[in-house]
Amino acid sequence: MSMHLYQMGVKVLGETVHQNLTSVLLAATCVTLTVAYVSKVLLRAGARGEEKAPPHIPSSIPFLGHAVAFGKSPIEFLEKAYDQYGPVFSFTMVGKTFTYLLGSDAAALMFNSKNEDLNAEDVYSKLTTPVFGKGVAYDVPNPIFLEQKKMFKTGLNVARFREHVKLIEAETAAYFQRWGDGGERNLFEALSELIILTASSCLHGKEVRGMLDERVAQLYADLDGGFSHAAWLLPSWLPLPSFRKRDRAHREIKKIFFRAIEKRRKSGERVDDFLQTLMDATYKDGRPLDDNEIAGMLIGLLLAGQHTSSTTSAWMGFFLAKDRTLQERCYAEQKAVCGEELPPLDFDQLKDLSLLERCLKETLRLRPPIMTMMRMARTPQTAAGFTIPVGHQVCVSPTVNHRLRDAWAKRTEFNPDRYLHDNPAAGEKFAYVPFGAGRHRCIGENFAYVQIKTIWSTLLRTYEFELVDGYFPSINYSTMIHTPHNPVIRYRRRTP
Ligand code: HEM
Ligand SMILES: *[C@@H]1O[C@H](CO)[C@@H](O)[C@H](O)[C@H]1NC(C)=O
Repeated sequence: MSMHLYQMGVKVLGETVHQNLTSVLLAATCVTLTVAYVSKVLLRAGARGEEKAPPHIPSSIPFLGHAVAFGKSPIEFLEKAYDQYGPVFSFTMVGKTFTYLLGSDAAALMFNSKNEDLNAEDVYSKLTTPVFGKGVAYDVPNPIFLEQKKMFKTGLNVARFREHVKLIEAETAAYFQRWGDGGERNLFEALSELIILTASSCLHGKEVRGMLDERVAQLYADLDGGFSHAAWLLPSWLPLPSFRKRDRAHREIKKIFFRAIEKRRKSGERVDDFLQTLMDATYKDGRPLDDNEIAGMLIGLLLAGQHTSSTTSAWMGFFLAKDRTLQERCYAEQKAVCGEELPPLDFDQLKDLSLLERCLKETLRLRPPIMTMMRMARTPQTAAGFTIPVGHQVCVSPTVNHRLRDAWAKRTEFNPDRYLHDNPAAGEKFAYVPFGAGRHRCIGENFAYVQIKTIWSTLLRTYEFELVDGYFPSINYSTMIHTPHNPVIRYRRRTP
């Protein structure tokens, strides 16, 4: 094919040479004029800074580039680059060029962009499609995914949240029975296990929750193994053991969902829950979701909410354990808002737990679970006077935006009361973006707040927490979501 084109080119060239002298001269003049014009335009554009690429951080390591330094401490790396190069800069890692947009103003480019210009599927689909399956999220054109997100939103309403609070409180109390009266335990592990149960109760329905045992939990873990650096870097058809496990787990979990959907349909029972919302949902053209789409959406929701909520809840626990005064204020708030007797939680009271809410908000500032959002530049993009070329992976980091020196006072201090006062970042639209912004914004924010506030209300009522010998976990950077390193906490049952 390419051989054929090449030969055609040679033939055309040959014919041109045999034209008469006049037309050759004419052609030459044309070419010269065109070249002159183009270079003039280019020069002018250059003077206006339009064609200037963002500063590129040099590296002496071929291919890998900055992967090692970035992998060791991404936040430090990005903050240093910000000080040295400003809000927009590029660097290379494992053969790919990343361009970061740091700070609220630069981040606006990503959040205001169209998906056709800065594209999410191009960077995410390779990881998500084998895990969620075909027909959902980044496997479909974005307008379809936007319709799917609208269905999620319909299903996550206040009436449902009222039920969710009860389900989550019950799951939490039951799970933490095994912790007994006191000791030292891995908080992150416990919260990860608990949140699979709560999310499944709330989002999947009782049929699926009923089937969730240790074997199924292992399937989720295998599926989750799909979100690895290997899956991101290597072709997905490679026969790696982790890929095979992922694919097998995907098939098994889909089967569980198919059975649950079938059971619900056959029973003729109409339960008012999230699964029912998806079973009843239709696209704008009237087509209902098929079982494969429903199952894919259920997997996607569980995993989207799982790591984000479990790491956030774990970090929140350590911030509360570190500041005992704050922890006691939160406990006092439980009594003040809900009553001295601490009756079962309800959604309306949950809304009034404002100190707890600020603690969560501040945890999401200092430890946002999604440290980088990424897009592929499909068209050239302008930011801070630079032109980002097609093919760059354009990134925004909530973690960095949430602690920029110019935007936040006492930026690394955990201070939930900062939101009671005007903070410098208040006027900046994208200084605080733990849930993203724009067309890809999270639809799970309200559910996450309900879930995490319910879990922590329950835990604060049950135990007092403290750091083990003053150890506050450092950040474990080994996965894409930054978890607490060695997350063991000390606890003792409260005496009423
Ligand atoms: C603390 C909890 C959570 C945090 C911090 C969080 C964070 C985020 C962020 C930063 C994005 C934007 C990603 C991007 O622009 O590339 C996002 C998108 C999304 N999240 Fe969440 N999330 C959380 C919980 C949840 C939960 C519980 C669900 C589902 C029930 C969920 C479902 C989604 C969905 C469907 C999207 C849309 C992705 C897109 O349109 O491209 N999230 N989330
Ligand atoms: C760090 O994270 C990895 C991946 O989740 C995990 O295997 C490892 O045990 C963690 N390390 C510590 C000390 O928490």
